Amino acid sequence: MATRGRFITLEGIEGAGKSSVARALLQHLQATGQAVIASREPGGTPMAERIRELVLTRSEEPLPAGGELLLMFAARAVHVSNLLEPALARGDWVLCDRFTDATLAYQGGGRGVPLDDILSLTRFAHPGLSPDLTLLLDVPPAIGLQRARGRGENGDRFEDETVAFFDRVRAVYLQLAHAQPQRWCVIDATAPLQRVLEQAKAAVQALQGTP
Ligand code: TMP
Repeated sequence: MATRGRFITLEGIEGAGKSSVARALLQHLQATGQAVIASREPGGTPMAERIRELVLTRSEEPLPAGGELLLMFAARAVHVSNLLEPALARGDWVLCDRFTDATLAYQGGGRGVPLDDILSLTRFAHPGLSPDLTLLLDVPPAIGLQRARGRGENGDRFEDETVAFFDRVRAVYLQLAHAQPQRWCVIDATAPLQRVLEQAKAAVQALQGTP
């Protein structure tokens, strides 16, 4: 039976630079000969990507916080069952741009859904699955949003939110990292990209060295 792969997640607010770090880490792991896949949430499989479209696209009809929360978990349940679990079981490492910590931060911190309710859904949707390592690319919202909006893309529903919303999202991320320092690695994402990448690679290498 193959040794189970490692599950690494990337978290942070918009404009933290997750995509660049995810790309670099994927190349780094591939270069070491590690079987690895990259994915993202919400999304990651064709069906979950359809849910992503639904939950991120602006629409005339309001999406209440409860609907948003359940759609995030609907996408996640599909993703875990159809992609993440099979990959980890065959020994691949998984690099995932966001996972359940994003729900705690955005729907919990941002929207005000009680964290205990989110934890109940977590136990229902993926009782046995938790990341081995979570990299938090930490950036103050004023800087992150400026970077994200400066890309000139039209953005998604979340990019319309206020700085106060992202302050609450960031506060929950930092609270989670503080509560579980053995799983989380907090990286100052205002530092030059090279420095951010060095820290991210060091955290991943430390995981490679553990049984
Ligand atoms: P991203 O792919 O640019 O990171 O965008 C995904 C957006 O979805 C981002 O604004 C965070 C949000 N999100 C949640 O609100 N809850 C979640 O559980 C996840 C995975 C993402």
